[in-house]
Amino acid sequence: MRAKIKSHELANQQFYPQLVQKQKARVSICGLGYVGIVTSGCLADLGHDIIGVDTDNRKLKTIARGESPISEPGLGQLLTAGVKNEQISVTGSLMRAVWDTDVTFVSVGTPTAEDGGCDMSAVMAVSRQMGMALQAKKSFHVIVMRCSVPPGTTLGLMRKILETESGKTMGVDFGLCFNPEFLREGTAIEDFHTPPKTVIGASDKLTASKIAGIYKPVDSNPIITSIEVAEMVKYVDNVWHATKVTFGNEVGRICKPIAVDSHEVMDIFVRDTKLNLSPYYLKPGFAYGGSCLPKEVRAVQHLARDLGVNCPLVESLSISNWVQIEQAIDMALALEPENIAILGLAFKANTDDLRESPILQVMHHLSMHGISMKAYDACVVADERLEGQFNYIKHAQPELKHLIEALDAVLTDDPKAMLENADCVIVAQKTPEIIKMINELSAETPVLDLVRLFKTPPSNPNHQGIGW
Ligand SMILES: NC(=O)c1ccc[n+]([C@@H]2O[C@H](COP(=O)([O-])OP(=O)(O)OC[C@H]3O[C@@H](n4cnc5c(N)ncnc54)[C@H](O)[C@@H]3O)[C@@H](O)[C@H]2O)c1
Repeated sequence: MRAKIKSHELANQQFYPQLVQKQKARVSICGLGYVGIVTSGCLADLGHDIIGVDTDNRKLKTIARGESPISEPGLGQLLTAGVKNEQISVTGSLMRAVWDTDVTFVSVGTPTAEDGGCDMSAVMAVSRQMGMALQAKKSFHVIVMRCSVPPGTTLGLMRKILETESGKTMGVDFGLCFNPEFLREGTAIEDFHTPPKTVIGASDKLTASKIAGIYKPVDSNPIITSIEVAEMVKYVDNVWHATKVTFGNEVGRICKPIAVDSHEVMDIFVRDTKLNLSPYYLKPGFAYGGSCLPKEVRAVQHLARDLGVNCPLVESLSISNWVQIEQAIDMALALEPENIAILGLAFKANTDDLRESPILQVMHHLSMHGISMKAYDACVVADERLEGQFNYIKHAQPELKHLIEALDAVLTDDPKAMLENADCVIVAQKTPEIIKMINELSAETPVLDLVRLFKTPPSNPNHQGIGW
């Protein structure tokens, strides 16, 4: 039965509305740079009491006056209101801030270290202080990591320091969370209120629900995931943004000397949300191939060189694609097979197009190591219909001539017998037929999966994925 509200509680709510707000998590924010100060202003605006912590006394004094230490539209007003309402206060003592709040957001700097990695000294320093504070704290406290750090940092470095210093256990005595920040400087307040997404990587359900509760007013449908995935998402997002900027700039560099309006080109490019700006082509898997992508990448590289234009991103595509093929070859060789079964030969499923199919390169290199192989592809029959393709391959990839001439003997229409005789299987296409074959295969037979056959990778250590 729901507990009755006592009349004096009702009266308090009526006459002291701030008591209702006190039910919101009390938040401390350690590191009041761009991320920390925006979060402070915005969470105060949502009704949270905020204790800001920094080692920079000048910054603390500025914030205590209700002024913004950075230039960010709208932030000054939020801080002025927060300080005036006594919702925002600051301190140099992180331990006190942890004791006096329910949740601590960590947004100290993680600049580039001398070796090009990530300088963790501030993260380590604040982890030690938070650990010491947790030692003396009875209630469940949640620590939310917001710094961009290499995957493994939160559950490795931070957790270890927190548990060692506090003598307590993550998930039992305190919660740990990685919650990446996606704000763009200049529109940070707007981004806080309409986030592109909210990602919460949490150590346990209670922690996830506490942090989801804080973000509920701005995003009622956050993405809950593991801490490591959340850490990686942040890096991948930014590398993707940098890739987009660089790609757009290279398009501009190629367009200008041939008097093509790069903006008109890209305006049309972005209108394609089926193939261009979409999840398509973005999942890790095998190398690209076929009659279009490799040929046209080469053509654009050639065009750029002809124009005297330097386009390192476009130039690097074929190199990276070849590295993916090499990776498959190395993984197959590491299995020391004698008889390999290949499932899928064409560059993608449901076609018989073998032109620049990357699995042919893998087969060529494995055969040079004396490994025998059979291949099955439901759509490929080595008869006169493939004559034209064979001529194309012999011309474009002369190194594959011997493989193509022997293809008739390599191809089989009896995949069952092929799999029974194989001591290793390479999967280069994802079809219901191939999934069934792999499901029925002995768990002892090593499988090299180039296409991510299953949504969740099998736990069988003999089933290896190329990028997962
Ligand atoms: N700036 C952005 O737009 C942005 C966006 C997303 C993620 N991030 C990440 O968030 C983190 C913070 O970024 P930022 O731009 O706000 O950094 P920043 O350099 O502007 O601010 C870091 C703050 O931490 C304080 N600090 C350093 N050591 C401290 C300690 N021991 N105790 C308390 N405070 C300490 C500094 O005095 C400074 O005020 C970084 O990991 C960054 O990569 C930044």
